[in-house]
Amino acid sequence: MTGAPMPARSAPLVISGRGNERTVAFDPPLLLAPMEGVTDPVFRDQVINLGGVGGACTEFIRISSSAIPARVVRRYLGPVRSDCVVGVQLMAADEDHLVKTIASAEAAGAAWIDLNFGCPAPVVFNKCAGSAMLAKPEAMARIIALAVGATRLPVSAKMRAGIDDASRMTEVLHAVAQAGAAMISLHARLRRHSYAHPATWDWIAEATAFLRGQGFTTPIIGNGGIDEAGDVARMRAETGCDGVMIGRGALADPWIFRTSGGGVPPTRSDAARFALSYSDAVIAERGERASLSKLKQLVRWYRCAGIFDGREDERTRLLRSDRLDELRAWFAVHLERVA
Ligand SMILES: Cc1cc2nc3c(=O)[nH]c(=O)nc-3n(C[C@H](O)[C@H](O)[C@H](O)COP(=O)(O)O)c2cc1C
Repeated sequence: MTGAPMPARSAPLVISGRGNERTVAFDPPLLLAPMEGVTDPVFRDQVINLGGVGGACTEFIRISSSAIPARVVRRYLGPVRSDCVVGVQLMAADEDHLVKTIASAEAAGAAWIDLNFGCPAPVVFNKCAGSAMLAKPEAMARIIALAVGATRLPVSAKMRAGIDDASRMTEVLHAVAQAGAAMISLHARLRRHSYAHPATWDWIAEATAFLRGQGFTTPIIGNGGIDEAGDVARMRAETGCDGVMIGRGALADPWIFRTSGGGVPPTRSDAARFALSYSDAVIAERGERASLSKLKQLVRWYRCAGIFDGREDERTRLLRSDRLDELRAWFAVHLERVA
């Protein structure tokens, strides 16, 4: 027999809320990252339907001048699925309105609550939210502790390694774990790196070793720079993290979750079918204009089954088009042509 060995199936990762009454199992421990403007309920559902996703969470919902009502959280969350746990991500600069918003998230059916301490966008950073919180570990700890005390759902934190450097990473990790976070997703970039810079997986290894050394069992989810299915096992082996979160790699290849667990890779025809089915779902939910922009967003990143290999000029042409029928026709022809 030749060929690469099948990766061993990972055991589920289970996290619990206060009092251990409510647990969430990520099975497998492979999460779709929250991405504002990308991972709305339609995209999330399409990706989860392909299999291999152990958990996902909403795009961030920013709490500012008032509590977020359940009907708004429900819009972000979409219909609750029985086959995959989906959490609600909240972004708060302080404790105001957090408790009521968590109650809304519970009412809307959130499986768990994730708190965003990683967003680099100036509009967020300048309001002292997202990654700006990394400069204030005590304030982060207060927010986490309040959230943990307000719900039986698990409360996790998603953070970067630092703002301008990683010198305070372990101090922040300690504060977050001590405050009762049930899980920490670590995006292995700094705020100043935004998204383009290569991820530094050594920070994930350092974070995992640090927490274990301090006696914390808080699971670490490694995030950043998973570009292909094989990277998942590599990140786990190189860093010792308890699970992996995939962002843009899922837009490039929505099957990455399934194939990283040993599933059959998609054909080009599968890739074309996914694009068309995603476009159909967006049309049904939000109309043709939205479908055009979402399909172009996919085309910008899409590379599963080598669908644009040797066809970069066609990708460029599709990205310049403002006709949904033109984009759909490209995929439809592709569907027929390539097995
Ligand atoms: C377009 C876009 C939107 C994002 N929105 C969010 C968000 O709402 N909440 C969050 O915690 N992270 C957000 N992120 C960060 C991702 O969750 C993830 O941490 C980052 O993309 C690194 O993972 P990757 O290298 O696998 O893409 C976003 C990233 C992108 C590219």
